[in-house]
Amino acid sequence: MRKFPKRNIIIPKKELISIPRILFEPSSKKSQYVTDFEIKFKEYLNANDSIAVSSGRTALNLIIDSYSIEKGSEILLCAYNFIGVPESLLKKGFIPVFVEADKNTYQIDINDIERKISNKTKAIIITHLFGHLTDIDAIKPIAQKHNILIIEDAAQALGSSHKDRFAGTISDIGFFSFTGSKPLNTSFGGMIVTRSLGQSKIIRQQLSMLPETSTAEALSSRLRTYLYALATNKHFYSYVLYPLTILFDKFNIDILEKYKIIDRSITKLPNNRLNYIQAFIGLNQMDHISSLLEQRRGFGNKLISMLDISISTQSILENSEPCYFMLPLKSKDKTIAYKKLLAFGIDANLSYAQDCSFLTNSNNPMSKFLSDHILTINLPFDLKEEEVAYIADSINGIKEFLE
Ligand SMILES: Cc1ncc(COP(=O)(O)O)c(C=O)c1O
Repeated sequence: MRKFPKRNIIIPKKELISIPRILFEPSSKKSQYVTDFEIKFKEYLNANDSIAVSSGRTALNLIIDSYSIEKGSEILLCAYNFIGVPESLLKKGFIPVFVEADKNTYQIDINDIERKISNKTKAIIITHLFGHLTDIDAIKPIAQKHNILIIEDAAQALGSSHKDRFAGTISDIGFFSFTGSKPLNTSFGGMIVTRSLGQSKIIRQQLSMLPETSTAEALSSRLRTYLYALATNKHFYSYVLYPLTILFDKFNIDILEKYKIIDRSITKLPNNRLNYIQAFIGLNQMDHISSLLEQRRGFGNKLISMLDISISTQSILENSEPCYFMLPLKSKDKTIAYKKLLAFGIDANLSYAQDCSFLTNSNNPMSKFLSDHILTINLPFDLKEEEVAYIADSINGIKEFLE
């Protein structure tokens, strides 16, 4: 049986042959790739506009600036989160205020939101964590009452939907990320989506003042992604990297995390416009994104249905379709569950999300609990039916170590 890395990336073959050609195209054609990518993305999500940028965090910065939110304002977000977001708020001079996580959905605890609102609160960021939807309809009345902007962080939720509305478009404005193992991967990149054409006009004006990511940077980051894709390719990973992962784990070294050549979350991401090469890469992937995500949704649903009844999984919002960006498992002891899964050939992520409360010296016990107990499994896009069953059997095989 093949082994399963903590992330993996699919590179369309067409991309490899096409990039050298587009380098020599006229500049009008190059900039058209950015426009075409934006149009396809907007059409896929049924949004009124989408604006391509160099990362998810650049998207967030531009959104906040476009609403003229002053430095020193408080911005609410779930404490159990991707840490890069509150870090980037702090860097920009805003005050992240952490809301507790819910023990079943692992998303923001809607009952804790109002308690955290003050007269300095200007916005709330709703993260659709692991690709599961947060109930934004339930948050809208609270936000309206206090005149707070809702920003949807759909970085992990491309293709997830609630009542036929896609993640990112349920509130007025949202954003996506195209880094790392995201299903749409331009090595680094992001997209703002909005229903408000007035807001997109303001954002486009701000964006026009930023430089385009250089072609050298776009190419070198793509090269790093190719290396990562090779390393996590099912044959290379199963026969070379997985045995090394087991070996290094004996010394508590996580080899794939050490080999973080594509993950730029810890490096400084400049606020830029998307480069035409990245747009071209994204545009190509748009042709298959819907079927790819649909396929993975099928794997996710099937896998969940095969799990032992005693295993608790992330609860799914009614009338929603998650994209299964990651499959979170609540363990009794994260390290033990990790080692047991690794023995079955599944390399789980220990800290894709974490309790970020320490950034503001706050205390959110449920977020801390989730952070201490949840590990996540990556579902590759190219799974076969028997591999889904194998993963389910492996998880069932360690049920005594899971909650
Ligand atoms: C939930 C979430 N929000 C925001 C981001 C930030 O995106 P980027 O790394 O493109 O800035 C990520 C990145 O993985 C994420 O997972």
